[in-house]
Amino acid sequence: MTILTTDRLRLEPFDDQHLEGLCEMNSDPEVMRYITGRPETREETARSIARVRERWQRLGFSWWSFIEREGGRLIGAGCIQLLANGEGNPLEIGWRLRRDRWHQGLAGEAARTMAAFAFDTLGAPLLTAVADPDNLASRRVMERLGMRFRGIEHWYDADVATYEITARDWRAGGLSR
Ligand SMILES: CC(C)(COP(=O)(O)OP(=O)(O)OC[C@H]1O[C@@H](n2cnc3c(N)ncnc32)[C@H](O)[C@@H]1OP(=O)(O)O)[C@@H](O)C(=O)NCCC(=O)NCCS
Repeated sequence: MTILTTDRLRLEPFDDQHLEGLCEMNSDPEVMRYITGRPETREETARSIARVRERWQRLGFSWWSFIEREGGRLIGAGCIQLLANGEGNPLEIGWRLRRDRWHQGLAGEAARTMAAFAFDTLGAPLLTAVADPDNLASRRVMERLGMRFRGIEHWYDADVATYEITARDWRAGGLSR
């Protein structure tokens, strides 16, 4: 299980001790608006931690909690996972933050480090990302990462804006990100 660090954050693989912080974030309807469209219950969050722990063991990647290095507060979560959790699918990157931490560039900061993990540590040839077409903030994070809009595709039982970046383009992007 891999811990990653950025200037402001420590990315820790989901752990039972993250339950409280994840519940606070995932029970906010605004955070979930473009994800499932409804707040997550405590039981659902607990089940997701158990699922993610199993995936870390089996696959060596999954969801991290974003912990502020200053103060130790859980302020977000992000993932590298199989797109739509499907065997044989390309890797997908994703993120979410507590509402009081939006607009501070934190998603992009975490995303750059998770993408580097996918390409440099896991050796992924390609990284994808999907968002509700109206989720402009998330689409902007994808664009800033250097991802290319591939079109509207059907994943997770929904029509979603789908982005991708190849390892080659990621490496060529270098410091311009
Ligand atoms: C998506 C999310 C993680 C973005 O995090 P963030 O840290 O606020 O994003 P940033 O501060 O890095 O901003 C990224 C860009 O999006 C822009 N942006 C932010 N909110 C926006 C909005 N509501 N509409 C349009 N653009 C927006 C910013 O101006 C910034 O653009 P810039 O790079 O040109 O300056 C955050 O909004 C969130 O947690 N949303 C709820 C969960 C979610 O939808 N997750 C994604 C599921 S696909």
